[in-house]
Amino acid sequence: MSTDLTSSLPAGDVVDRMDDPDWWRQAAVYQIYPRSFADANGDGIGDLKGITSKVPSLSALGVDAVWLSPFYPSALADGGYDVDDYRDVDPKIGTLADFDEMTAALHAAGIKVIVDIVPNHSSDRHEWFKRALAAPKGSPERDRYIFRDGLGENGDLPPSDWTAAFGGPAWSRVEDGQWYLHLFTPEQPDWNWDNPEVRADFLKTLRFWSDRGVDGFRVDVANLLVKDLPEVLPSKAELDSMDRDSGDYPLADRDEVHEIYADWRRVFNEYDPPRTAVAEAWVDSPARRAKYASPEGLGQAFNFDLLQADFSGPQFHRIITENLEQSRNTGSSSTWVFSNHDVTRHATRYGLPPLNGRKVKQGVEWVAAGGPEDELDRAGGLRRARAATLLMLALPGSSYLYQGEELGLHEVADIPADRRQDPSFFRGAEYDGLGRDGCRVPIPWTSSGTSFGFGDSDAHLPQPQWFADHSEQSQDGAADSTLELYRAALGLRRELQAGESLEWLETGREDVLAFRRPNGWVSITKFGGDDVELPDGDVLIASAELDGRSLPGATTAWLKQ
Ligand code: NOJ
Ligand code: CA
Repeated sequence: MSTDLTSSLPAGDVVDRMDDPDWWRQAAVYQIYPRSFADANGDGIGDLKGITSKVPSLSALGVDAVWLSPFYPSALADGGYDVDDYRDVDPKIGTLADFDEMTAALHAAGIKVIVDIVPNHSSDRHEWFKRALAAPKGSPERDRYIFRDGLGENGDLPPSDWTAAFGGPAWSRVEDGQWYLHLFTPEQPDWNWDNPEVRADFLKTLRFWSDRGVDGFRVDVANLLVKDLPEVLPSKAELDSMDRDSGDYPLADRDEVHEIYADWRRVFNEYDPPRTAVAEAWVDSPARRAKYASPEGLGQAFNFDLLQADFSGPQFHRIITENLEQSRNTGSSSTWVFSNHDVTRHATRYGLPPLNGRKVKQGVEWVAAGGPEDELDRAGGLRRARAATLLMLALPGSSYLYQGEELGLHEVADIPADRRQDPSFFRGAEYDGLGRDGCRVPIPWTSSGTSFGFGDSDAHLPQPQWFADHSEQSQDGAADSTLELYRAALGLRRELQAGESLEWLETGREDVLAFRRPNGWVSITKFGGDDVELPDGDVLIASAELDGRSLPGATTAWLKQ
């Protein structure tokens, strides 16, 4: 593996890339969960200065952009997705000056900055929610959120029987007897998007960060926001029987939400290069997803299809084909992602039995069972994850990577109950089992020392001993390490990436996927167990050791023809 691939770009290249309005179309974006990345002041919580200190590592990794999960003031009822103030930094992790310093350091290294915007709900500590509580029923202050009288003689029954995403009722009662809607935790009251002040305030927030040099936005649950809430609300059973894909479902993915994003697009286009956005929208049909990715809207949307698939040739083939077709239709570029802060890490998912179409969140049951070692094929899972990632990095479109996957991290299952933080753990969310803390454990930078180099004191979530073998330090320069695989692949991708086309190559077997990109760049993946012959071409990189010209099972190789 040649090391010059990992060095920083020449200054001229950095400038060109930073000015390119299309930079996002085929970017490798690295997600940072700020409180778990690097802790500069040793209080156990990752901070913005920590991120700044790791710019050389991000540069060596070779990513085009970072996306920061929320770093705003927050009581952390939902890991920061409960925002007290959209236009500030949580004092526990830094200041606006630290933010500017971090952005400048990332930009100087040619790395774009994407921040997370959480528009469906604020936190219950947001100034406007406090004012809503202090104001009377029917006041303009209350109208910024969704307040209702309760049912029953004394109004002591919630306005509907809806449940919140992390368990428990979706309505909470306030002192004067009214109820407010929260599709997530009670600490996350939903905004009323029919209120013009709410709309205007978000435009102000987008400009605030854009003016500070932020390059793009990741939009949290972009498909919620607008709701249709008639006087008599439908029951949960009625909601369950409705078509979520019609554009007319009362709580999600309503057609009117795109009017909001058209306003946002006008703000993005005030900047040069225009600011970008990617929607997090868990909608079922690719056609509905396409609306978020429209150039008149957010421009790009996450595609979680690979993330929910087994490591399977036919499944990957279908998903890639469908999504590339979809992005051709919309004019956007496709996105690909295997891991993020909400799901079991993909090395672990691929070390567990395949889902074979079962509709569950992969890995959640294994974590709930205490993470039994005898059920997890650690080495096999990582091997498949490396093969999958190398395939993904050869696809047209943007690849979203999640901190720690470049170190080959597995999910951490053994977090004691009294150290867990995720609301889905405390609120008994069935879907999330013991919660999402296991993929949010602070990163191991060194193989020894307090919190494996994360900071100078214990990390806010306990790190397992096996992190020592996964640290950046232990993998740096080790030819077969996952870190070096990512570095080399990202370096090659940057060199080879050209047009967005992909041509499937006939392999005669459904467990072997091969495709050609412009520039004679070929990627071939063997999903199943036995070996196949490599096609013609010079091998550039492989996710596992090759035996001459034969490609072993669970391996991807790139060739240049
Ligand atoms: C999606 C985010 O990714 C997740 O972490 C969060 O809990 C919910 N949205 C609510 O904001
Ligand atoms: Ca800190």
